[in-house]
Amino acid sequence: DGDVFKYYADGEWKKSGSGKSVAIINPTTRKTQYKVQACSQEEVNKVMESAKVAQKLWARTPLWKRAELLHKAAGVLKEHKAPIAECLVKEIAKPAKDAVSEVVRSGDLVSYCAEEGVRLLGQGAFLTSDSFPGNERTKYCLVSKIPLGVVLAIPPFNYPVNLAVSKIGPALIAGNSIVLKPPTQGAVAALHMVHCFHLAGFPKGLISCVTGKGSEIGDFLTMHPGVNCISFTGGDTGIAISKKAGMVPLQMELGGKDACIVLEDADLDLVAANIIKGGFSYSGQRCTAIKVVLVMESVADDLVEKVKAKVAKLKVGPPEDDCDITPVVSESSANFIEGLVKDAKEKGATFCQEYKREGNLIWPLLLDHVRPDMRIAWEEPFGPVLPVIRITSVEEGIHHCNASNFGLQGCVFTKDINKAMLISDAMETGTVQINSAPARGPDHFPFQGIKDSGIGSQGITNSINMMVKVKSTVINLP
Ligand code: G3H
Repeated sequence: DGDVFKYYADGEWKKSGSGKSVAIINPTTRKTQYKVQACSQEEVNKVMESAKVAQKLWARTPLWKRAELLHKAAGVLKEHKAPIAECLVKEIAKPAKDAVSEVVRSGDLVSYCAEEGVRLLGQGAFLTSDSFPGNERTKYCLVSKIPLGVVLAIPPFNYPVNLAVSKIGPALIAGNSIVLKPPTQGAVAALHMVHCFHLAGFPKGLISCVTGKGSEIGDFLTMHPGVNCISFTGGDTGIAISKKAGMVPLQMELGGKDACIVLEDADLDLVAANIIKGGFSYSGQRCTAIKVVLVMESVADDLVEKVKAKVAKLKVGPPEDDCDITPVVSESSANFIEGLVKDAKEKGATFCQEYKREGNLIWPLLLDHVRPDMRIAWEEPFGPVLPVIRITSVEEGIHHCNASNFGLQGCVFTKDINKAMLISDAMETGTVQINSAPARGPDHFPFQGIKDSGIGSQGITNSINMMVKVKSTVINLP
């Protein structure tokens, strides 16, 4: 059936025996753009079995050879940037240029994994027993890093390629095999990315990509006894997964409510530019988007004016035209955002622009004078709607930030580095950016959330370290 994209298992493209498919709705046209296979549980079982077998051989493949293949895949990925970006435009309405950047960034990420892996994993440790009381120098401990086995990678819709390779790259260089379950929106871009790994010549079974309905294979995958590690990026589903998963290491990144704290001495032009970039790029559909501005009352009017002027310049429309604001991923997402906007309206927020929506396209909206009783003060819209809360003290800002159930990133704008450091220390988030909007990259930086924002730390180096286990061999002398 030429209309339905095949899934990838055992080094081959396959049709599901289920005879069923899942439709991918283009967020802009709201019509079916592509279809992917609805894999069955039986097919998942087979994939797990081949992943297990392939991993054993891969773990014995010299590290430099693993790195070589990853470099090759990175190159192929970059060569295929145009068709993959095209899928991102159609499946998730990512603006055309950002879609290309996502693929290029992914190629760079894979290469960096290869570079980092050969160095990091090529070293171990050597310990002697005589440092611990009661021991002679009769035991030598050799410590190395061994792979975990089969890594289950589940990326979200907003970076179906980049947040897939940020799991695949570290897993593979460390000697693991990969079972990828892409998000439905973005599945075809992910399949195309997997095709690049196929072309690079990885052994069959080492990488698989199963598509299908979460309701059918979601729990089945995450609770599968063949899985030795789960790396997940997404929303609340991650909390459910962490409760159901077996005794395997989890790496989770589950969103945020990143605060932007603006002090009186801040460079307001810099702040406004960063609020636009941080709050509205990819229409606010980033876990690291600025999701609440906490600004000192004395500079709030000026800042709001500057942001308003920049919002007016944002290009709203289809992703093909490389507009700044494009349709949000689904109708249900647009409805959810609208619910937050209505709640803010009823409770008296100041609308800096008129609320406007056509289909899944929501015009950028800045809400001023937001108060803590409004849902938008706490919830993640994942859309182009940004609340501004006016504060009278820094403590009030820190308090709001820390009262959130999320703790991904935050940012603070001030010219006083001492104040910035104190605020950074006080903010309960995985990262604090001083004088810039939150962001995950550069991709080798540690990336982590606390509280409901996640488990563990990502970034290339941390991901590689998370996807290995320590193995000791002790030589006992007579
Ligand atoms: O959506 C979550 C991503 O990890 C954010 O990545 O900061 O590069 O947009 P980004």
